Amino acid sequence: MTSNVMPFRNVKHASMLWASPERAEEIAGLHAKLFDPAWDAAAIKSLLEHPAATSLIAVAGSPKAIIGFIIGQLAADEAEILSIGVAPNWQRAGLAMGLLEGLARAARRGEAKRIFLEVAEDNEAALALYRKLGFEEVGRRKRYYVRPGNAAVDALTMALTL
Ligand SMILES: CC(C)(COP(=O)(O)OP(=O)(O)OC[C@H]1O[C@@H](n2cnc3c(N)ncnc32)[C@H](O)[C@@H]1OP(=O)(O)O)[C@@H](O)C(=O)NCCC(=O)NCCS
Repeated sequence: MTSNVMPFRNVKHASMLWASPERAEEIAGLHAKLFDPAWDAAAIKSLLEHPAATSLIAVAGSPKAIIGFIIGQLAADEAEILSIGVAPNWQRAGLAMGLLEGLARAARRGEAKRIFLEVAEDNEAALALYRKLGFEEVGRRKRYYVRPGNAAVDALTMALTL
């Protein structure tokens, strides 16, 4: 079974492209598998239509399906990552690194000096990812993430100097 799955997961079979607003439904489908509460397609579409939008998707398979996304904005000399996610069966294959590096390249081209993001302080996977890329903690928002039935969790603001 594993031998059937692994070639499909090979990142060489994945490609990265700009996220157009037409992909909002598909991105919302993946977002809903990864986040609670999830963002609906209309909210994602309006983010992708924003003039400052700098967003990428990773696709694989035939027909090409979305296996990862990064939704960002680039304004003046700062970029912000609003959401990033990778399909569960594609995680730990370097896709999020690729998406973040793609966004960082676009931000540098746009003459951004720093990239900011917010992450729940208990999201160990995301924290490890951002630290690996050199993001550093620059602030904290107390009880920022409110999850139904659970105690609110602080958000850490992290920044990467480009
Ligand atoms: C966080 C997330 C985007 C990482 O995506 P990914 O494609 O699996 O990440 P990568 O394969 O590029 O990982 C790069 C590095 O990040 C760290 N990392 C990623 N996932 C990790 C995990 N589950 N546990 C520990 N470290 C992890 C590792 O250092 C990893 O390098 P390594 O595999 O060589 O050890 C993915 O787990 C996800 O979609 N999670 C749900 C949504 C989410 O929490 N998004 C972030 C919101 S702020």
